[in-house]
Amino acid sequence: MSQEVREAEKQFIVQTYKRAPILWERGHGVWLVDCEGQEYLDMAAGIAVNALGYEHPAITDVLARPGLLHTSNLYYTSPQVELARALCQNSFASKVFFCNSGTEANEGALKFARKWAKERREIVAFSDGFHGRTMGALACTANPRYRQPFEPLIGGVRFATYNDLDSVNLDGDVAAVLVEPIQGEGGVRPADAEFLRGLRRMCDARDVLLILDEVQCGLGRTGQLWGYQDSGVEPDILTLAKPLGGGLPIGAILINEKVANALEAGDHGSTFGGGPLVTRVARSVFETIYQPEFLEQVREVGQLLQAVLQRAVDRFDFVLEARGRGLMWGLVLSEKVPVANLVEAGYQQKVVMLSSGHNTLRLLPPLILKAKHVEVFEKRLMAALEEVSLALA
Ligand SMILES: Cc1ncc(COP(=O)(O)O)c(C=O)c1O
Repeated sequence: MSQEVREAEKQFIVQTYKRAPILWERGHGVWLVDCEGQEYLDMAAGIAVNALGYEHPAITDVLARPGLLHTSNLYYTSPQVELARALCQNSFASKVFFCNSGTEANEGALKFARKWAKERREIVAFSDGFHGRTMGALACTANPRYRQPFEPLIGGVRFATYNDLDSVNLDGDVAAVLVEPIQGEGGVRPADAEFLRGLRRMCDARDVLLILDEVQCGLGRTGQLWGYQDSGVEPDILTLAKPLGGGLPIGAILINEKVANALEAGDHGSTFGGGPLVTRVARSVFETIYQPEFLEQVREVGQLLQAVLQRAVDRFDFVLEARGRGLMWGLVLSEKVPVANLVEAGYQQKVVMLSSGHNTLRLLPPLILKAKHVEVFEKRLMAALEEVSLALA
């Protein structure tokens, strides 16, 4: 890649990111193209953002039409209202608040929960969860590596063990429980349906809100429109971000009527939130994804991907387990193979993959992935696994 770009990045960009030595120039469909014209199969989608891949007409057609970019929330704009209507009419929610990212959506959700709960202040979150990097969202993120340098964070957060109902204690001052239906950063761990149902029951018994963080797993990723649908558990608040703008930044907090009734003018705000350009694009993205045939295809292709990953488990003894749903999958590796080595071997094979959690390979391809791409993926994944396997010998 360009040495000049690499050096300038080092000189001028805050050094908080560890980047792969690749300079992307363009993309089409499920393919990313680097500055040397080499095509990579994208199994990461910009960390679950590019749900429609690259240059999808649902996005490019909207971008090609003139329209307002921004007006602020001091005024009405139709695209924002239309997107909110579409989200509410196709979910548990009765109202939506728009913001600009996942962490912001969670931050707002925490505020809404505290406003609703009046004097009750505490939040219960979970081991291996990830909710973002701002002070409130970070306070609900268990990983000490992310938290410790910035403490004290907001108070009143306690942690329970994911998928373990017995560890959950809602005694005292609890306003809300915050949980991912499938943990993304924590190693692609699906919540057991019984765990989510149990949380719902406990929340109902104590009049505590259930907040589902679907920033990574929401909007078609699981093969259902919402991650909660497989368990049948409806939240009081749901946070959404990554895929909604198809690559443009947008977050959303979906809430039910009882939470909405607790909120009034001035309680929360965002200058950019729900601007006309991003909501026009997001509505088009939403209308593409929520079609039953689209979701059916995510489930079908997801099963093919699962089968590929299972073959990897069967073939390589250092590949321990495949877990996930729809087009959100993790491949757990034994400690003897650092997942970074496999991601790196993937680049050599021209496939883009992610890591997460404890030594887990994470796959979050564009939701437009087809069977023919899964075939290409299988060849490249197996070659990458061979390579790291040889290095072990
Ligand atoms: C479940 C979950 N919540 C929140 C966030 C934070 O979102 P953002 O990076 O858009 O602030 C992420 C990001 O990875 C996430 O996976």
